[in-house]
Amino acid sequence: MSTSPAVAIRPYEASDESSWVRCRALAFLTTQYYDDVWPRRPDVSAPSFGLVAVDGEGRVIGLLDVSIDAEAATIHSIATHPSHQGAGIGTALLEAAVGRLADGGVSSIDAWTREDPAANGWYRRNGFSETFQYLHVHLEDGDDAEGFTTPPGFSGPVRAFVHAGIEREQELRERFARVYVCRQYVRDLSDGTSIEARVEGAG
Ligand SMILES: CC(C)(COP(=O)(O)OP(=O)(O)OC[C@H]1O[C@@H](n2cnc3c(N)ncnc32)[C@H](O)[C@@H]1OP(=O)(O)O)[C@@H](O)C(=O)NCCC(=O)NCCS
Repeated sequence: MSTSPAVAIRPYEASDESSWVRCRALAFLTTQYYDDVWPRRPDVSAPSFGLVAVDGEGRVIGLLDVSIDAEAATIHSIATHPSHQGAGIGTALLEAAVGRLADGGVSSIDAWTREDPAANGWYRRNGFSETFQYLHVHLEDGDDAEGFTTPPGFSGPVRAFVHAGIEREQELRERFARVYVCRQYVRDLSDGTSIEARVEGAG
């Protein structure tokens, strides 16, 4: 899946920030992370790095931030602008990142995501395997806040975001309106298999 010639993949630059923020916010708006909006890009320091896909006017239409801890990397942000999804941009960003990671001796890359079909389909298609699950639980208006406490002098919690074990899924879905399974996906980089070969292998 090659991207259109008008799309360039390159390292993130400070001047990209405003269109980076917009691209991420718009991409996440229709996902279960709709309220995970960042007004600015978090600082990324070497050896961690960020890549962007830009259109002919230099606007960010795809982004990938990767943090590196010794031989393991983690995807911190991956997003393609809604008007450009399904055109191979996410995969092209990943290919560029994987090449850079392999050159740097990094042997695995992981990522965490909720239940959105596009993200889960994309990770599976790009050679990632699911390795762990747990729950993201949001306490919001109308939910039973029994057991949630706050320090003296404060109201009860207005909202809360907590984690829980996957074994409590049915119980917690009955109590809270907003519960998500969060999955860890891992891709082994040590065997140097290209994404094409993985996709062919995945059939
Ligand atoms: C996930 C995401 C980054 C993929 O980027 P993209 O540039 O559209 O992906 P590509 O074009 O490189 O790859 C497309 C492949 O992803 C998978 N995919 C994309 N949308 C899908 C969907 N709705 N259901 C299942 N699989 C899907 C398919 O395998 C598809 O390949 P195909 O078109 O040959 O079937 C993009 O959908 C996105 O930005 N989503 C919102 C933000 C998000 O969820 N980020 C991840 C959070 S952890």
